Amino acid sequence: MKAPEPRLQRKLLAWLLGPLAALLVLDTGVAYWNSVRFSNLAYDRALFEIGREIVLHVRAEPAGPRLDLSDAAGNILLRDPDDLLYYRVVATDGRLLGGDPQMPQPRNGAAAASPRPARFYEDVVHGEPVRMMVAWLPVGSAAAPTQVRIQVAETLHKRTRFAWEMVANVVLPQVLLIVMATAVVWFGVSRGLQPLQRLRRAVSDRSHLDLSPIATDDVPGEVRPLVDEVNELMARLGRTFDFQSRFVADAAHQLKTPVSGLKAQIELALRETDPERVRHSLAQLYISADRLSRLVRQLLSLARNEPGALDAMQLHPVDLDACALEASMEWVPEAIRHEIDLGFEGAGEPLMIDGDPDRLRELINNLIDNAIRYSQRGGRVTVRTEKTAADQCRLGISDDGPSIPVEERQRIFERFHRLLGSGQDGSGLGLAIVSEIATLHGARITLEEDTDGVGNTFSVFFRLRSS
Ligand SMILES: Nc1ncnc2c1ncn2[C@@H]1O[C@H](COP(=O)(O)OP(=O)(O)OP(=O)(O)O)[C@@H](O)[C@H]1O
Ligand SMILES: [Mg+2]
Repeated sequence: MKAPEPRLQRKLLAWLLGPLAALLVLDTGVAYWNSVRFSNLAYDRALFEIGREIVLHVRAEPAGPRLDLSDAAGNILLRDPDDLLYYRVVATDGRLLGGDPQMPQPRNGAAAASPRPARFYEDVVHGEPVRMMVAWLPVGSAAAPTQVRIQVAETLHKRTRFAWEMVANVVLPQVLLIVMATAVVWFGVSRGLQPLQRLRRAVSDRSHLDLSPIATDDVPGEVRPLVDEVNELMARLGRTFDFQSRFVADAAHQLKTPVSGLKAQIELALRETDPERVRHSLAQLYISADRLSRLVRQLLSLARNEPGALDAMQLHPVDLDACALEASMEWVPEAIRHEIDLGFEGAGEPLMIDGDPDRLRELINNLIDNAIRYSQRGGRVTVRTEKTAADQCRLGISDDGPSIPVEERQRIFERFHRLLGSGQDGSGLGLAIVSEIATLHGARITLEEDTDGVGNTFSVFFRLRSS
């Protein structure tokens, strides 16, 4: 089987690395913006100095200022290994004194004389982005002072390079930190998840028959409730499996004898030639088949009411008094056949309980069936319902037949347990079914002999509905 993906590990890493990466991008942006600001601060100063140097070559003459800058001097001033520099000097009357005539005019506001020594901004010269400096600088003597406007532009190569170098200096250590954090987290999470991997192996290595609880010593606290729940589920499954396998074994065992008996009887009947004897054999066969069908019905009923049935059971408000009366009425013909006086003493009021009507009828039928069958002819059987407390009622079935010995009163509720010498057919499942149905309803059963020492009284105590 393919090992499941360690999703938790990936999720944790994604949660850690996602925000860290976003932070890194943000930080790179801020670092770049700062670097550009600092490189401008440094290089703008140099640009202004070049402007001042150029203006030092402006002579104040009677006809107006004149720029006296030789090509050689200009080359020295404007030489830079990385960038191209352009300049232009203009007199107050707008006359171009020297420099590049194609340089763009100063931007709005920068053209006017201003108290600030210089203004700097981004512009484009000869199709290339530049940093532009515009300044008004004094020229001439103290007696005849005037001003010239100097513009110096510089391409952005070294500024950009400087800014990226600074960004790299700030960001690289952070990238390194994130890589290391990833490695540490990966390692830590793998180690942290090891108990879960062991747990997975412990479960996958198990035989499907092994329902013993999973050991919880090594399990992390967060997962422990889950493992406890799984163990609880396995315990429930184990109980159901036990019940099922016991049931199958019992059923097979119990069915074997009557089925072989049936077969033997049929073989015997086949060999008969006398029609009268064949008829007699068929009558015997009918009785055996009837017994077998009762056994099968009881086995199915037992399986239907096993403890796990609680989940499938739908409880409804049921009037126990009405239910018991209805069931008793149905038994009247059978009682008459056995010459039994079957009586009903109701509570005189509805006794509402939460129950499953079909199952309740099954419970009452089994108890009345026993009472009638195990009492002698001419006996008396009484079905009684009564309220015994504010929240409790009782269903009682009494007979005046031979009392069940004290030592047997517990055992008769076990499956297939029957008393010897009752002289009646039966599968020994009726009371086991009664007991299961009572348990499903949260009811309690007691068995007592009557006050005069004969007869038996089976009582089932139910909780009344609260409203
Ligand atoms: N009212 C009773 N009086 C005397 N003996 C009883 C009474 N009820 C039950 N018993 C005894 O308890 C045994 C178990 O009863 P249970 O109803 O479980 O099985 P059963 O009647 O033998 O078979 P079936 O599954 O067909 O009902 C009976 O065989 C009988 O010996
Ligand atoms: Mg019975």
